[in-house]
Amino acid sequence: MNYRHAFHAGNPADVMKHATLARVLTYLAKKDNAYRVIDTHAGAGLYDLAGTSAMKTGEAEAGIERVLAADLPEPVAQLLEPYLGAVRTLRETAGPRRYPGSPALALALGRPQDRFLFCELHGEERQKLEKAVGHDARAKVLSQDGWKAVAAHLPPRERRGVLLIDPPFEEAGEFGRLTAALETAAQRFATGVVMLWYPIKDLMTVDAFRRDVARLGLPKTLRVEIDFAEVRSQSQLSGSGLIILNPPFTLAEEMRTILTAINPLMARDGKGRVRVSWLTQGA
Ligand SMILES: C[S@@+](CC[C@H](N)C(=O)[O-])C[C@H]1O[C@@H](n2cnc3c(N)ncnc32)[C@H](O)[C@@H]1O
Repeated sequence: MNYRHAFHAGNPADVMKHATLARVLTYLAKKDNAYRVIDTHAGAGLYDLAGTSAMKTGEAEAGIERVLAADLPEPVAQLLEPYLGAVRTLRETAGPRRYPGSPALALALGRPQDRFLFCELHGEERQKLEKAVGHDARAKVLSQDGWKAVAAHLPPRERRGVLLIDPPFEEAGEFGRLTAALETAAQRFATGVVMLWYPIKDLMTVDAFRRDVARLGLPKTLRVEIDFAEVRSQSQLSGSGLIILNPPFTLAEEMRTILTAINPLMARDGKGRVRVSWLTQGA
């Protein structure tokens, strides 16, 4: 396990993932009933974009920093407010270049009644995560294999919530594991929102993955993708994707509006491409 998210925190892929998570949580918060967030590959929870790792790649400059600095049209600013508001508040309280990973973002948007489960296998990352979120009584940090957590913790007691599966993609077979985890999650938590993140590097692999997901025949599966660079080699990230099972009914339109506005800011050619479409639409 060599992957460290600190090198990539706040990059365009993080922005699209976290903006989507924030819209899903905002929707869930419309009902008073508690929800649960299960983040199977949680990372360190909180990042310093002025730290050595982030500065080494500079990836956040084309991501969150550009979006924060932009003068966004009103509907887009409004849709992004939960996400960007959480980043700005964190910067006011914790330091000017801080950035919330999915755990800190989820907790920032959560309410007193909501519960949060974060799995992180890497020892040092987990220690950082404990430090970042362990003080919050709503959160539990586990040193559990995130792939096993899917079956182990579903369905949550609250019977509503989000499962985020965001693996590092450093081992072969992770697309296959995502598909299998989605199938398990759909069986055990049929009403839950499930978000799977995947890198876009090699287009054939991504096409095959989408086909495998569609073949599961799950009721409502949304695909959200952005390209922010040309495909150059199979080792370089050219885009970022999410498969979302049971998305809020407003999500497809919201993400189209948000990403159409912000992806040109983040894309290397100043345009980028956005794809939001249903893999399966269901009844
Ligand atoms: C892409 S990062 C997570 C980023 C985080 N979800 C966010 O959005 O801020 C993936 C994390 O998964 C951890 N990891 C790798 N394999 C794991 C496993 N089998 N179970 C749990 N965590 C794992 C890595 O150490 C890494 O911190």
